[in-house]
Amino acid sequence: MHTAEEWMEKIIRLKESRGAVILAHYYQIPEIQDVADYVGDSLNLARQAAETQAEVIVFCGVRFMAESAKILNPDKTVLLPVSEAGCAMADMVTAEQIRTLKQEHPEAVVISYVNSSVAVKAESDICCTSSNALAVVESIPEKREIIFVPDRNLGSYVAAQTGRDMILWPGYCPIHNELTRDEVEACQREYPGAKLVVHPECTPEITAMADAVSSTGGILEYVRKCPDREFIIGTEEGFLYTLQKNCHDKTFHIARGGFSCPDMKLITLPLLADCLERNQYPIDVPESVRVKASQALNKMLAIRP
Ligand code: 13P
Ligand code: SF4
Repeated sequence: MHTAEEWMEKIIRLKESRGAVILAHYYQIPEIQDVADYVGDSLNLARQAAETQAEVIVFCGVRFMAESAKILNPDKTVLLPVSEAGCAMADMVTAEQIRTLKQEHPEAVVISYVNSSVAVKAESDICCTSSNALAVVESIPEKREIIFVPDRNLGSYVAAQTGRDMILWPGYCPIHNELTRDEVEACQREYPGAKLVVHPECTPEITAMADAVSSTGGILEYVRKCPDREFIIGTEEGFLYTLQKNCHDKTFHIARGGFSCPDMKLITLPLLADCLERNQYPIDVPESVRVKASQALNKMLAIRP
């Protein structure tokens, strides 16, 4: 049995010997965030993956994030330490369903949230994350019809903010979608005066109550700049570690107990060490879909909000 420090030392040794970079999402457990080279939201991590010089990219997050890294780096080894770490929302739409929608709306532009499969990205014109969804929608000429997949909550939020009428796919994140008005109000009664900051994967009822709605990266920026000192956070609980680490003088409360994405919690220090030692699990994307998906992803990366 190693201590957490010993595992971290081992991981750093292995990482250096393999010329690897470790990217981790904000929802990862604290030890994984601490050992990573970069911790970020989906957009920042995709940018890091696109720009890294490292030969091996270890992605501590969920499959669609590691797949995006592979789409952008076909000649590099991209490893996901736990093969079954997926995203329930990404599984809610298939490429076949998008092809049908495109037949029904042949003039429409298809925007896919990055929380989607490679095959879905390959059927899309452009991708977005929750950081740049507004800018991506605003980049589409006014007259063009827009199909937005798979998150109906992010889609509704962006539609309301931009005034654009969009065809929304009925997907959702089961973790964010579950947050209710009653839970938020109970939290507000407990912490009166605290600012409510939520992720746009929450329902329209919740985003309408919030003082700020943003991606994880956007929430971090907001709380850093905000003169207030107490916040209720409506997103996955792993992110509170990041917030507290970056803002020592502020207090954060999770909007609901058990606000946890089980897939984001699968990667542990021993599994990360195994991943580097045994080269597991490499992401493989068929070249024909990769090329099409990379066009949609690169179009998104070219937009600077
Ligand atoms: P961010 O891009 O805001 O990090 O969100 C990713 C995600 O999966 C939210 O559930
Ligand atoms: Fe997917 Fe929701 Fe987990 Fe994010 S929190 S990875 S959207 S299931």
